[in-house]
Amino acid sequence: MFVSFEGIDGSGKGTQARLFLEYLKEKNIPFIYVREPGDTEIGEAIRKLLLENRDMPISPRAELLLFLASRAQLVSQVISPALIENKIVVADRFIDSSVAYQGAGRNIGLEEVEKLNDFATSGLKPDLTFYIDITVETSMKRKKVFDRIESEGYEFLKTVRDAYLYLARKFSDRIVIIDGEKTVEEIHKQIIGIFEKRGGQSR
Ligand code: TYD
Repeated sequence: MFVSFEGIDGSGKGTQARLFLEYLKEKNIPFIYVREPGDTEIGEAIRKLLLENRDMPISPRAELLLFLASRAQLVSQVISPALIENKIVVADRFIDSSVAYQGAGRNIGLEEVEKLNDFATSGLKPDLTFYIDITVETSMKRKKVFDRIESEGYEFLKTVRDAYLYLARKFSDRIVIIDGEKTVEEIHKQIIGIFEKRGGQSR
């Protein structure tokens, strides 16, 4: 089973992914955790280019292709082998991030990015995606340090959030909207409840 966590910056998806991993560990369910962009040698090099570099200009299409290159490598080197071994794959960000940030935020087009995602992943999609929803106001209040993409500001993040909500409606059988304004513990319980209902525990 492949589970991804999505949300705008400061949504708490990283915290929730960590709590979810602790739950899997406690239950003795084999898993791997991956974070995008990164988690392969090529992916980490791309992460630095994309998030830390503020000197070299990167066009929106080049930015998208770099995220996709990192993802393609991660799928072939890490995710697909783990799924073959029947492990639960937990991803902090996956295809929906590119649709929301590059497709909507950078205005490349949602469907265009969906198609390119399919190419990069050979069509692999998560079985279950937790989209942790917060307002842009909450995001800006919570985050103090912004990377190159996060520092785009309010309007950019609003476009990204709207795209996530659109995707959650479009793919409602895969993407679950979680209210990220609730407490960490409440959200964690809700996530476990949904995961168990989807048959996660029996794998
Ligand atoms: P992440 O490391 O999850 O951010 P945080 O530091 O808040 O945990 O994500 C890094 C940034 O990359 C984030 O601003 C979103 C952006 N991103 C995209 O724009 N497109 C993508 O496809 C991915 C995976 C991330």
